[in-house]
Amino acid sequence: MQVYLDHSATTPVLPEVAQVMQEIMVHEFGNPSSLHAMGVRAERHLDKTRQILAQACAVRAEEIIFTSGGTEANNLAIKGVARRLKRRGNHLMTTQVEHPSVLYAYKALEEEGFAVTYLPVDRNGQVDVADVVANLRPDTLLVSIMHVNNEVGTIMPVAEIGRALKAKNAHTLFHVDAVQSFGKLAVEPQRWQADLVTFSAHKIHGPKGCGALYCRKGVLLAPLLHGGDQERGLRPGTENVAAIAGFGRAALLALAERESKMEKIAGLKKLLCEGICRQIPEVTINSPPNGAPHILNVTFAGVKGEVLVHALAEAGIYVSTGSACHSHRADPSHVLLAMQRKPEEIEATLRFSFSAYNTEAEIEYTLEKLRHAVETLRMLTRRKK
Ligand SMILES: Cc1ncc(COP(=O)(O)O)c(C=O)c1O
Repeated sequence: MQVYLDHSATTPVLPEVAQVMQEIMVHEFGNPSSLHAMGVRAERHLDKTRQILAQACAVRAEEIIFTSGGTEANNLAIKGVARRLKRRGNHLMTTQVEHPSVLYAYKALEEEGFAVTYLPVDRNGQVDVADVVANLRPDTLLVSIMHVNNEVGTIMPVAEIGRALKAKNAHTLFHVDAVQSFGKLAVEPQRWQADLVTFSAHKIHGPKGCGALYCRKGVLLAPLLHGGDQERGLRPGTENVAAIAGFGRAALLALAERESKMEKIAGLKKLLCEGICRQIPEVTINSPPNGAPHILNVTFAGVKGEVLVHALAEAGIYVSTGSACHSHRADPSHVLLAMQRKPEEIEATLRFSFSAYNTEAEIEYTLEKLRHAVETLRMLTRRKK
């Protein structure tokens, strides 16, 4: 049996999405900037996805900018605002638990002379709304807070933050990274009072290397790249039409019966979580009880997460130690560190992430192999001592 439980890292492209992409790459291959009929047809594919994303989030189609993924959309939002508005202020704010594409964009801006506040979180990975407000300065240009944390699934109170932030500083822009929530939870830029929202296709069974940024009308950005006037000049370069069309189809499929799919996913997570707590001693659930339904982060005391990942892979089960972006680095997860976990606890941690296409039988199989692997690894460690 093969069980894929690493959907927060990436998801398989659905056959229907791949079919749409294949048709465009082979037959509808026009350049959307060309004036002739094939160009016009290609442009229609872009417009269609723009409409789908805009409708899903109750914003205007012209407020969607296509990018090469969540990383680029985050960089465009953060560096775009800071560089464009630098004459108005020097201060920026985010949290300590953001995705590296947010954290390192802010670090790069520190090198350009901006002052950045990195807000702490509690043991559940939650940022305190009062803390956001207390740290606002008259010259704060931008605040970035993720909607759902990719390592532990914490849902940040983005609507409350947006309200409190705008009440104190109407001119400060608010950016939300919704890569882990779009297609799963409601993404509502207007209700959140968010000016910028990041999306990525490959977390919702769409292609890798494709994403989008919602940029509210009137918000000014400095582009990262210079070239043609595609995407209102904010993201020059010939659009990846096939991937964008695939993103649109994947979004439609994700949004269809979204709530019932989320109920199913929550059921699978509960099955695994309760099974782990019942059958395996000395475990700690790091995901908060009210977290997103698709992410479960667990510490197995005394077991090296990396070794456990390989032991499970031998049994055809694919999970991750933290976030995929960190898995090739030795440093402990910055998210769990910010959540006040000890380095030895972080080393012993796995992330399971689900999709609606997982089954109960897969979860039962995972539980059985997991219990066996943890028992064996703990026994081997005891023997070595
Ligand atoms: C919260 C979050 N933001 C941004 C990204 C980056 O998206 P992409 O892989 O499309 O560059 C990821 C991907 O793991 C993510 O989980």
